[in-house]
Amino acid sequence: MRQAGRSLPEYRAIRGTGSILDAIAKPDLAAEITLQPVRRYGTDAAILYSDIVTPVAALGFGVDIAPGVGPVVEEPFRTERDLDRLRPLEPETDTPYVIETVRTLVRELPVPLIGFAGAPFTVASYLVEGRPSRTWAATKTMMLREPALWSALTDRLADIAIASLRSQVAAGAAAVQIFDSWAGALTPDQYRRFVAPATAKVCAAMRDLAVPIIHFGVNTGELLDQMAGVGADVVGVDWRTPLDVARQRIGRPCALQGNLDPAVVLAGWEPTRDAAEGVLASNAGHPGHIFNLGHGVMPETDPGVLATLVDWVHEQPVTP
Ligand code: CP3
Repeated sequence: MRQAGRSLPEYRAIRGTGSILDAIAKPDLAAEITLQPVRRYGTDAAILYSDIVTPVAALGFGVDIAPGVGPVVEEPFRTERDLDRLRPLEPETDTPYVIETVRTLVRELPVPLIGFAGAPFTVASYLVEGRPSRTWAATKTMMLREPALWSALTDRLADIAIASLRSQVAAGAAAVQIFDSWAGALTPDQYRRFVAPATAKVCAAMRDLAVPIIHFGVNTGELLDQMAGVGADVVGVDWRTPLDVARQRIGRPCALQGNLDPAVVLAGWEPTRDAAEGVLASNAGHPGHIFNLGHGVMPETDPGVLATLVDWVHEQPVTP
């Protein structure tokens, strides 16, 4: 998950102080940062060091990531004219460093690499709001008052995500994850009308590559069936929804990823082990389960507790 590396002293030592987008544009550095948590924890897969705004930043939309804040946009997306600022992504020329990082990693990693992209809704919300929002007021206003403009925006962002994901798989990524981190801000009806079509387009356009698609969001307990229904093979579940409940709500064959509360890890090993036991109990031996945290690793996390957790999970029998 995002920021697995952020809690590591070796990450802080090589990350530098500039924008994270500069670090992402250096393939040797980005590959090394991707490898760090795999070396330290022995996880079963690695996730590419990049960001959900990397493609739109490369297109010159004027977005950067402010430390401690998140993505900020100089001139937010407002009108139809702004669509011109989102031309199609040509990964070989716009984000060649991402492709080179993936190639290096596929050579060096002992485990599969997960590529990723931001889902159209979550990326659009940053472009429309201009900075992280707690209400998504401007985004919801646009989808409700200007549905044609909203649909054109998310359709372009779907094409950009497709081009980026396809280039990562072509370079060797073994699975892809679509981050719709803030979809949980929506009602099920808003999700169905304004978000599902663009995300379904991304999943459909990846089908021929036959790599697993993981679809993740936070606070999506009421959306899990739709998040599976857009064409994902795996749905990420945050810590609020027990895995057995998630499975019931989805009601069709679909693997789950999750869902230990990342804050529990801060309390130390024993509470972490108890919570991990709870996750496995709730999964009840179902084979379609990727053990993970329910969201990203918090920066103040003790790497020792995470390392113990990974070892402990590896020691558990696959069926109870
Ligand atoms: O584990 C990893 O580091 C994998 C690579 C990764 C990053 N961002 C690197 C990053 C991934 C998969 C992401 C995705 C991402 N980026 C999401 C979706 C996942 C999620 O968390 O739900 C979102 C919403 C973003 C946007 C973003 N980027 C935010 C909100 C922030 C935090 C800003 C801050 O400083 O608090 C970032 C910055 C960021 N992206 C960091 C990392 C390791 C941390 C800060 C840094 O080193 O500059």
